[in-house]
Amino acid sequence: MDIIVVEGGQRLSGTVAISGAKNAALPILASALLTGGECTYTNVPDLQDIRSILLLLESLGATTSADGNTVTIDAANLAASEAPYDLVRKMRASILVLCPLVARLGYARVSLPGGCAIGARPINLHLKGLERLGASIEIRHGYVEARASRLKGADIYFDTVTVTGTENIMMAAALAEGTTVLRNAAREPEVVALADVLVQMGADIQGAGTSVVTIQGVSQLKPTRAEIIPDRIEAGTFMAAAALTGGDVTLTNCRPDHLSAVCDKLQQAGINLDPKGTTLRVTADRPIESVDVRTQTYPGFPTDMQAQFMVLMSCAQGQSIIKETIFENRFIHVSELRRLGADITVSGDTAVVRGVKALWGAPVMASDLRASASLVLAGLVAEGVTQINRVYHIDRGYERIEEKLRQIGASIRREKA
Ligand code: EPZ
Repeated sequence: MDIIVVEGGQRLSGTVAISGAKNAALPILASALLTGGECTYTNVPDLQDIRSILLLLESLGATTSADGNTVTIDAANLAASEAPYDLVRKMRASILVLCPLVARLGYARVSLPGGCAIGARPINLHLKGLERLGASIEIRHGYVEARASRLKGADIYFDTVTVTGTENIMMAAALAEGTTVLRNAAREPEVVALADVLVQMGADIQGAGTSVVTIQGVSQLKPTRAEIIPDRIEAGTFMAAAALTGGDVTLTNCRPDHLSAVCDKLQQAGINLDPKGTTLRVTADRPIESVDVRTQTYPGFPTDMQAQFMVLMSCAQGQSIIKETIFENRFIHVSELRRLGADITVSGDTAVVRGVKALWGAPVMASDLRASASLVLAGLVAEGVTQINRVYHIDRGYERIEEKLRQIGASIRREKA
């Protein structure tokens, strides 16, 4: 297993290109199941999770190819409708094939994804939505079996805002008979990106990006070509890196308009931001101020930036309160940050972070994707060397993170453990 070794103290400066968004690419690649014929996607990030979903699509009978950041998928001849446990356990977003398979084939058998480090992460809302569209659902031996001769439009209310739940049901409704209305739908840019691709394929979708989405089902969808939107969480991670090191970094190929809440909090912390179209310059030339944060669904402060922001607050002047409202166990990074000298106390869904003069380097253990990124960030400013183990967590969601950080001045390398 690889490890990442960071020597703290380097000020980051220069330009870094942001990759395509993992959380937009995963549902969009799954949407290729809704049609036969070659779909081409560009600006796809080269990540483990992308390789995982391509393996899954191939196991269903699709043909796929990946050339750098361009992916093609042809699901004309599906030969299976089962997503096996050994693929789903590696990447829970595999659940995104459930609804396209039922819409296209009338049947799907998908392993329950199970929980993960940050929470139980049930899929009850995915299943409730699919049932409302007329599917019969059975759960047996750890698998979901869904059947529907023809899905019929329905009025569906999500008790909790769910990103992949909204995406899954949107894909099913696109081929259902009649009108579907999704209420309390997720408003994330990744949901809008999927809706845009479905509309390019011939779907009739209104209201994506708001909490009420209306879908008029159509009889079939056609293949398309689409570019994946930039990854707002990778962008936010690099913004935090620039802020932490008192740096001057320009992000390119990013969407500042997808980062309003993160930009607002960084500006409150004293960071200078200069957005211009698809570039965003981040400069930090004064001590970091403590700022309170509460994670929320979009357009609120994203839960996927909570760990990264906690590192910034650990190096700020004063005390900040960080409240995690989306996942029940998303403070795993706290114990590792404490080993690096951070002063953080957790009570339930709230962390109190007191800024310290310095963090110190130490060996730490990655646990989930964003917690791992926060450990890399801490290593950038810790005194001495920080060694991050189990970096496969990072590779799931960040394309060549150590190369990109080295390009802007970090002393960081990847080693074989
Ligand atoms: C998506 O996960 C993202 N993943 C996550 O990013 C992100 O943290 C999350 O949305 C929240 O923004 C992808 O898009 C692939 P949810 P998702 O359904 O869809 C509860 C990363 O680091 N819930 O919006 O699985 C759930 O337990 C990953 O890139 C139910 O109760 O998240 C959670 O508390 C981590 N029942 C809340 O809703 C359901 O059926 C939000 O979860 C579904 C969800």
